[in-house]
Amino acid sequence: MTKGLRKGLTSYGDAGFSLFLRKAFIKAMGYSDDALERPIVGITNTYSDYNPCHGNVPVLVEAVKRGVMLAGAMPMVFPTISIHESFAHPTSMYLRNLMAMDTEEMIRAQPMDAVVVIGGCDKTLPAQIMAAVSADLPTVVLPVGPMVVGHHKGEVLGACTDCRRLWSAHRAGELDEEEIGAVNGRLAPSVGTCMVMGTASTMACITETLGLSLPMSATIPAPHAERVRCAEASGKRAAEMAVTGGPKPSELLTPSAFRNAQVVLQAIGGSTNGLIHLTAIANRTTHRVDLEAFDQLGRDVPVLVDLKPSGLHYMEHFHHAGGVPKLMKQLGDLIDLDAKTVAGGTLREIVRDAEEVPNQDAIRPRAQPIKPEGAMAILHGNLAPRGAVIKHSAASPKLLQHTGRAVVFESVEDLAARIDDPNLEVSADDVLVLRNAGPKGAPGMPEAGYLPIPKKLGSQGVKDMVRISDARMSGTAFGTIVLHITPESADGGPLGLVKTGDRIKLDVSARSIELLVDDAELARRREALAKLPPAKTPKRGYAKLFTETILQADEGCDFDFMAGTGE
Ligand code: FES
Repeated sequence: MTKGLRKGLTSYGDAGFSLFLRKAFIKAMGYSDDALERPIVGITNTYSDYNPCHGNVPVLVEAVKRGVMLAGAMPMVFPTISIHESFAHPTSMYLRNLMAMDTEEMIRAQPMDAVVVIGGCDKTLPAQIMAAVSADLPTVVLPVGPMVVGHHKGEVLGACTDCRRLWSAHRAGELDEEEIGAVNGRLAPSVGTCMVMGTASTMACITETLGLSLPMSATIPAPHAERVRCAEASGKRAAEMAVTGGPKPSELLTPSAFRNAQVVLQAIGGSTNGLIHLTAIANRTTHRVDLEAFDQLGRDVPVLVDLKPSGLHYMEHFHHAGGVPKLMKQLGDLIDLDAKTVAGGTLREIVRDAEEVPNQDAIRPRAQPIKPEGAMAILHGNLAPRGAVIKHSAASPKLLQHTGRAVVFESVEDLAARIDDPNLEVSADDVLVLRNAGPKGAPGMPEAGYLPIPKKLGSQGVKDMVRISDARMSGTAFGTIVLHITPESADGGPLGLVKTGDRIKLDVSARSIELLVDDAELARRREALAKLPPAKTPKRGYAKLFTETILQADEGCDFDFMAGTGE
């Protein structure tokens, strides 16, 4: 099999000349023939001045290179797109598939025998894994790691559960300008990803569970020396894989691996985004995530990790308590330990070696869970024929069975314009409804599902209300929030038929979300809607590709032509 620099030669119709030319050019970088004869490990560089979560990437890249060279191979660093949550317009989700395509095609286009992908900020690990799965080259995933915690007035703080909580307190008049300004400088005290169980942490834990990264790589804090050693070890391992040719993602990502990932997603109180990303990753293989099976797992798997927003702690506490290996140990027979990992063996060895930490309280035993059921439930009903998701572990228990009057917002812009209007007719028992915020409608399915509590209710002490939408929500958010209503309203979903004043019934134990309006009236509304002129769609570029080919949330929001066919 062709290896190293001889792989994937540029087509000139003369392979010998292609290699001669390639070598002539690369020698301009000062490489020797000895270096150029070695197996090659590609390393993605997602450093960007716009991406503080990836601020340690240069250090990690150097450590990975060191590991690769210690093992006798040749590291080649190459850039790909980098996406940060707060610097991605309209949304980071809009760009995830672009990053996946970029990463996949650069892995394919350039000669490498293995690759280390380094990412972390929310959409980056999913994009890189989707790419690695499609390229199916031996891959080690290296998360950048979570930030360390911040402190304010004796309280421990973390991005971004506390960003939202304290901003809400500021909106309600509990924190003045000066104090919210001070908090602003303390919420993200280091490089690295959000240190609560948001999407970045969720995806790092899922990656480790899927066996795509080395043990403990999900939880080591970004600024710690241990993170750098993990990078060196990842490089070393990738160099070995470059020689042996495996394991490839297709060898690791079995139905058992995907089931294990779903168990862990439930047990960590993971982000709802994690479900979309895991679905997208599975769809790049020949396997699929079955939402009904995921919901059933949610009834069997308890939440064991005590992290915000479902619990109390932060990622560094999870790490010091034993991390994902210890969690999998506590999960016992819920995890299939025969699943293979990129470390070389199976999860059995990793779980066997999990650290015992006396008196730790971040990872609970199954007999004393944070919540007896998993983090998420899948809802169905006439409002969500193909499903919706709720992170009930981070919801108000008293609102999990609730019927209320709908207050409808047509779009994210309409929401921003009216939510704080003192004349808005709204009470704490109402159900806030946001539509046109799905994959196509917004576009890019913004994290707008965490509709703010109207200011006039917030100032009366209202902390939570039932909120429903076809949008996503940050994994760091807390509340009784129904998300990913599928199909979305912009794709003809019944969410588009709701009117202010309708009654909506949420019953999480029955897994249902119902619009209490009779079928004949809904049919009339649908007919009236069909007579309206169609919404304008983009005519060029990535926006056109996105709008025309984006799949719905239940299919992972990948492009419809990217699914794995097994061919
Ligand atoms: Fe990057 Fe939260 S903003 S992980």
